[in-house]
Amino acid sequence: MRLLVTGGAGFIGSNFVRHMLRRGDCRARVLDALTYAGNLDNVADVSSDPGFEFVRGDVCDPEAVRQAIRDTDVVVHFAAETHNDRSIHGPGGAAATNVMGTLNLLEAAREADLDRFIFISTDEVYGEALGPPKTETDRLQPRGPYSASKAGADLMCQAYHVTYGLPVIIHRATNNYGPYQYPEKLIPLFCYRALRGESLPVYGDGMQVRDWLHVGDNCRAIELLIERGEPGEIYNVPGDNERPNLDVIRLMLDELGKPESLISFVEDRPGHDVRYSLNGGKIELLGWDADVEWEDGMRRTVRWYAEHREWLEASVKRGEDFLKQWYAKRGW
Ligand code: NAD
Ligand code: TYD
Repeated sequence: MRLLVTGGAGFIGSNFVRHMLRRGDCRARVLDALTYAGNLDNVADVSSDPGFEFVRGDVCDPEAVRQAIRDTDVVVHFAAETHNDRSIHGPGGAAATNVMGTLNLLEAAREADLDRFIFISTDEVYGEALGPPKTETDRLQPRGPYSASKAGADLMCQAYHVTYGLPVIIHRATNNYGPYQYPEKLIPLFCYRALRGESLPVYGDGMQVRDWLHVGDNCRAIELLIERGEPGEIYNVPGDNERPNLDVIRLMLDELGKPESLISFVEDRPGHDVRYSLNGGKIELLGWDADVEWEDGMRRTVRWYAEHREWLEASVKRGEDFLKQWYAKRGW
């Protein structure tokens, strides 16, 4: 299987490339612009694999995309501006990469003879889940610039299936956790700060709920959708593990042996979605289930960050300008 993996030097993309190359019957070409969030260190361990190829390029550049999609069977499109806070600080990047970058890729895909085009969407396109877990037919009600840009791309992918017959499959997962996540997201950022004995800026009352999915379980879900997903269909991928943020933070502090006095309640994120929750019945019918037990997966993840201090420090440095500005108001 010849894969084109956009954003394959980021968090989920790098884990996915590693996962697929382990099978022994795949080639993976990564197309990644190496923004602050992308890092070749994330794929260093597979870079000498004969099936691995890296192309530095921007999904917003039509020629780069046309070149990269040559001789591809399956596109898995991860590349995106992925951080809510950054998109609130300045929505332009999310709109450009997530909407226009996806459109570029779809256009190139029309000319390519693909078996599958997997679009990595998100649970956030449904907006906050105040009632029952969201199903694939529920309305999209994104509330922030990041989720609105992902919803735009998600709908454009659906349109390309209907209009041009592109074999699109939409994947909508909940919050992932695991190694190689950029330290602007809750778990790696708070590990970084706790390891340095710095305060942890909890937004609002810290009772917002996320459904945590281990990245390894998510990689298996994407692999299954390539093999058994139906073109034109949408699949939710939940972790079945809903936790208030404070519970996640307390477990992290316990694993690191750091005091809860590091927790500091700060001004809330504007438009903060209080809960995400997905119904996973549809992908479960294909034979997928989340395997990783939460406390074990979380403790292993926290230990990975503790053992990769240099990776954390170097990663934070690349995105420091934004982090300093954003948290200046929040006691950084
Ligand atoms: P990430 O921020 O860790 O990585 C994004 C990658 O995309 C980076 O390697 C970056 O360099 C690359 N990139 C950004 N802009 C680019 C551009 N214009 N051209 C080429 N490459 C570019 O993101 P992630 O957390 O791994 O998320 C991957 C995908 O999964 C995203 O589409 C995101 O919306 C989706 N998603 C993530 C989560 C989560 O919890 N992390 C949950 C649901 C969905
Ligand atoms: P995040 O990792 O940014 O992912 P998302 O916004 O996609 O869910 O945030 C996870 C939760 O943690 C979310 O409810 C916001 C909260 N949070 C904080 O309280 N403080 C922080 O500094 C960050 C980054 C997140």
